[in-house]
Amino acid sequence: MKATGLETMTKLSKLKLAAALSAAGFAFLASPAVAGDIAKGKEKADQVCAACHGKDGNTPIDPSYPKLAGQFRDYLETALTDYQAERRTNAIMVGQAKALSRDDIRNLAAYYASLPTQLSVRR
Ligand code: HEC
Repeated sequence: MKATGLETMTKLSKLKLAAALSAAGFAFLASPAVAGDIAKGKEKADQVCAACHGKDGNTPIDPSYPKLAGQFRDYLETALTDYQAERRTNAIMVGQAKALSRDDIRNLAAYYASLPTQLSVRR
């Protein structure tokens, strides 16, 4: 049964290829470029965002301005891309977000997520 052997080989190498591809996919997801660069995020945050959200992301200049420190990275990224696309509207933040690149957003989200949180639920 030569043909069956060959078929099995082909299926096996297809499986291997699929495994290799998905491994590559996961490696891509875990790469630092996608996760965001905390140091670059801090640089940008100090230049721009700290003026309103506070130098530590916990001391905003007004109580109505949210604390960003320790917020989930994907939440921050989503909030910023939503402002950018005007899915979430706010006169101040839409303008802020539109000035950011995709990398800026990833870096800023990684930076603020890395800071100690003061977010809490009041009971
Ligand atoms: C001029 C003041 C100001 C500056 C500068 C500013 N923000 Fe904001 N930010 C606000 C205000 C006000 C809100 C609340 C807006 C709303 O209610 O949607 C906000 C909301 C946010 C939110 C949503 C938080 C949440 O809990 O939903 C994120 C994320 C955010 N800002 C990130 C940033 C980043 C990153 C920068 C720097 C690139 C920045 N902001 C610069 C005033 C500012």
